[in-house]
Amino acid sequence: MKVISVVGARPQFVKLAAVAEAFRGTGHEHRIVHTGQHYDADLSDVFFADLRIPKPDVHLGIGSGGHGAQTGAMLAALDDVLLGDTLFGGERPDWVLVYGDTNSTLAAAVSAVKLHLPLAHLEAGLRSHNRRMPEEHNRVLTDHAADLLLAPTDLAVRNLAGEGLAERTVMVGDVMTDILLRVRDAVDGKPLELPGEDEPHAAAPAGTVGGAGAPDLWQDRGLADELGGRGYLVATVHRAENTDDPDRLRAIVEGLAALPLPVLLLAHPRLRDKAAAAGIPLRQGSLRVTRPLPYPQMVRAVLGSRGVVTDSGGLQKEVFLLRRPCTTLRTETEWPETLDGGWNRLCPDPAGLADTVLRDTPVPVTGHPYGDGHAAEKVVAALADRT
Ligand code: UD1
Repeated sequence: MKVISVVGARPQFVKLAAVAEAFRGTGHEHRIVHTGQHYDADLSDVFFADLRIPKPDVHLGIGSGGHGAQTGAMLAALDDVLLGDTLFGGERPDWVLVYGDTNSTLAAAVSAVKLHLPLAHLEAGLRSHNRRMPEEHNRVLTDHAADLLLAPTDLAVRNLAGEGLAERTVMVGDVMTDILLRVRDAVDGKPLELPGEDEPHAAAPAGTVGGAGAPDLWQDRGLADELGGRGYLVATVHRAENTDDPDRLRAIVEGLAALPLPVLLLAHPRLRDKAAAAGIPLRQGSLRVTRPLPYPQMVRAVLGSRGVVTDSGGLQKEVFLLRRPCTTLRTETEWPETLDGGWNRLCPDPAGLADTVLRDTPVPVTGHPYGDGHAAEKVVAALADRT
């Protein structure tokens, strides 16, 4: 079987790590195309290195841009690559496999169906039912274009059935859980590591905004010691709904800064750029700012924390699986299983942050809604069964 995985943004690299590992030693031919949607070393290279993902066979180098320009540039480039000589010597792949809900997902989905290549969507069936989110457009359009829908949860299976897509759906579980459980076991008990001031970082390519190594995001080596124990929170904010409106962004940053314990803010470039443009200082009050962390260090930081505040989809689920309380800066979640027992709580209004973050300890839960850590093997089997 010949399979092309197309990825481009940080959460997709984690999913790819699980899938690439499951392909290893199977005899199937698996090739990787990186669109270049994420290009900062912090968001891309360190994931490939730390999670031992094979180097991409093709890197499109598309970079940032408006939704139309970015998606369109990927689409134009992918048409030649999916059927070109580089991947399978001009032979047609059996599957094009796309991941999650980013612009890279949609571009690869459209390219594959236009070329009449079988398309499989990993993490199919998630819904926020919020049609203002770019991710919701991407996942709905991709699900309806795909030939095989690899669903991570029972709810995702039901969502797809409700849209008339039951026959194309296979429940495989969540591949991010495969990686998380492995990394958790590897980092538990290790010291907290944060990027230091004397640690230069790979520069962003010419023409890009900012760069992962922007000096304002470097921290003293002493920060990890200051945070030690479990007396801190971890925060991430990057979604358009939270960063693009300066008033909302200010309310979120000030709400985090006013919390009564240190908040380790892992600043995505989009947050850094939008805050700078709106004149909102990220270093204020309780906030301790650092660059996005490599995956193992992020997992270690969450394990050592008293909880997490985030608008990320994947991180909500990871925090639930690591059994730390999560506060989600959104009106809805694609992972409602995390709300069970109060482990995750939605907090759309930043004025409610302190009350939500400092709530009572959640109730123990015993279910495993995201699978048993072997989802990626089921993905490979589902693809092979239908070749
Ligand atoms: C994208 C995904 C989102 C996912 C997130 C994970 C879409 C529509 N959104 O959002 O679902 O949760 O990735 O991080 O695909 N930038 C850099 N360096 C980079 C990449 C981006 O500086 O390597 C900056 C640029 O200013 C860019 C902005 O971040 O304009 C937004 O990047 P983009 O890839 O468009 O979307 P994300 O916000 O990262």
